[in-house]
Amino acid sequence: MLTIKEMEALLEKALPRKRFEHSIAVYKTAIELAKIHNADMEKVRVASLLHDCGREIPTRDNLLKAAELNIPIDEVEANQPILLHAKLGVYLAQHKYGVEDKETLNAILYHTTGAAGMSKIDMIVYLADLLEPKRGFFGIEEMRQLVKVDLERTMMKAYALTIKYLLEHDLLIHSNCIFGRNELAVKFKKMNQTF
Ligand SMILES: [Fe+2]
Ligand SMILES: [Fe+2]
Repeated sequence: MLTIKEMEALLEKALPRKRFEHSIAVYKTAIELAKIHNADMEKVRVASLLHDCGREIPTRDNLLKAAELNIPIDEVEANQPILLHAKLGVYLAQHKYGVEDKETLNAILYHTTGAAGMSKIDMIVYLADLLEPKRGFFGIEEMRQLVKVDLERTMMKAYALTIKYLLEHDLLIHSNCIFGRNELAVKFKKMNQTF
């Protein structure tokens, strides 16, 4: 595996300026969250820095590139190929940046859709991507406060936000997003019943 500095240099060459700056912002946000939530710092650093490394492939080439690399393409990805930057990112993280750690790769894999059974590392990368300083949407400040206290409740809000957006724009909802959301909904429902 390369050092973080080496990864950063490679990433800077590979990504458009704005996407690289976003990656650094996510990296910094994720480090703060990892400190607060006591997550594995090394894994969070690598996963957050590289979460969008798949973006070096132009979106219009995603389907072809995924097919070429024998990456399975599901129905939602076939219709919204932008989603494939997560799987392509996992491939590049492994083969270009030398990442082998499964938990690090999983965080890259789940950063666009979310998923059921997300680890602390997965949630930190997902939420840092959504809440980095350059992002702005209604309710973001509340989420920036909540994420310091409760990753899962912030994920629940993030899913709601994403699903609303997808509905409003007539887009497809990936099953991982639904499974992830339902898993947390069940959990919080049970928690409320005990009180
Ligand atoms: Fe992304
Ligand atoms: Fe991102």
